[in-house]
Amino acid sequence: MFQISRKQELAKGTIVRFDIVAPKIAKKAQAGQFIILRVNETGERIPMTIADKDEFAGIITIIFQVVGKTTALMRSLKEGDFIRDVAGPLGRPAEVEKIGTVVMVGGGTGVAILHHVAKSFKEAGNFVISIIGAREKELVILEREMDLLSDELVVTTDDGSYGVRGFVTQPLEKYLQERKEIKLVYAIGPIVMMKNVCALTKKFDVPTIVSLNPIMIDGTGMCGGCRVNINNKVQFACVDGPDFDGHQVDFNELMNRNSIYLKDEKDCMLFSIH
Ligand SMILES: Cc1cc2nc3c(=O)[nH]c(=O)nc-3n(C[C@H](O)[C@H](O)[C@H](O)COP(=O)(O)OP(=O)(O)OC[C@H]3O[C@@H](n4cnc5c(N)ncnc54)[C@H](O)[C@@H]3O)c2cc1C
Ligand code: FES
Repeated sequence: MFQISRKQELAKGTIVRFDIVAPKIAKKAQAGQFIILRVNETGERIPMTIADKDEFAGIITIIFQVVGKTTALMRSLKEGDFIRDVAGPLGRPAEVEKIGTVVMVGGGTGVAILHHVAKSFKEAGNFVISIIGAREKELVILEREMDLLSDELVVTTDDGSYGVRGFVTQPLEKYLQERKEIKLVYAIGPIVMMKNVCALTKKFDVPTIVSLNPIMIDGTGMCGGCRVNINNKVQFACVDGPDFDGHQVDFNELMNRNSIYLKDEKDCMLFSIH
């Protein structure tokens, strides 16, 4: 059993932050890794990125968007409540080294996943430019935290209600045109955002890493659920990723595979409400 030591609702309550007491995981976790949790004995297993950790306090942080049955159930939990199972850290850590100027691009809840990686790149001595985007002002998350760890920060909103109006790819294109010293782009967010970021960085020949979010079940390479196509080769995101070279990812296949269960997921959510 894993206790929730702190709960915070962000972005109109559609995004929630949990600090969870998990000393063994906090000790080992590295940026880019994730956990698989089960809220209760009959619950489904779902993956969540370790958005931050405090090794000394034995705490890991997850930040999740309420999108369906399990995340809605998680939002109903209170500080002091317990999560039945938390397994991790899983996946390969992000490859972090001192390379110079890097651009961190995050969209929506992807910013939560990006945060730990961006922090590690900063700690490794890189010049970190961050571009974070959301649909509207109320949905911008972790702006203060990203500002603290970035040398430059740009916030975008699709509707222009805060920061620069438009998608994250607009300021990114400007940076790529003006800053030839950019060595790497890291992009985490909706699949379509990562796909568009990669199309852009390919034109400028800048290496790009993305973090993929296929359906995962066991998280150990056994079930095949998280199969992704990288450079025409099958890889399992839970053990070979979740980070991959964005220029080699078949994003269309990923979008198709992720939509296979849409009807079941909607039914499941409706059933749990009634
Ligand atoms: C490695 C990894 C890290 C992730 N980290 C985060 C995170 O930090 N914050 C966050 O908000 N979300 C994260 N996700 C996505 C998160 O797992 C899903 O939002 C969650 O499983 C939704 O469950 P649900 O029952 O609430 O919604 P459902 O209605 O069941 O599903 C809604 C959508 O969530 C996705 N999803 C559902 N079940 C799974 C599953 N078993 N594995 C993967 N995706 C699933 C699908 O795209 C689905 O269409 C991550 C996914 C992966 C693969
Ligand atoms: S989640 Fe089962 S193989 Fe990756």
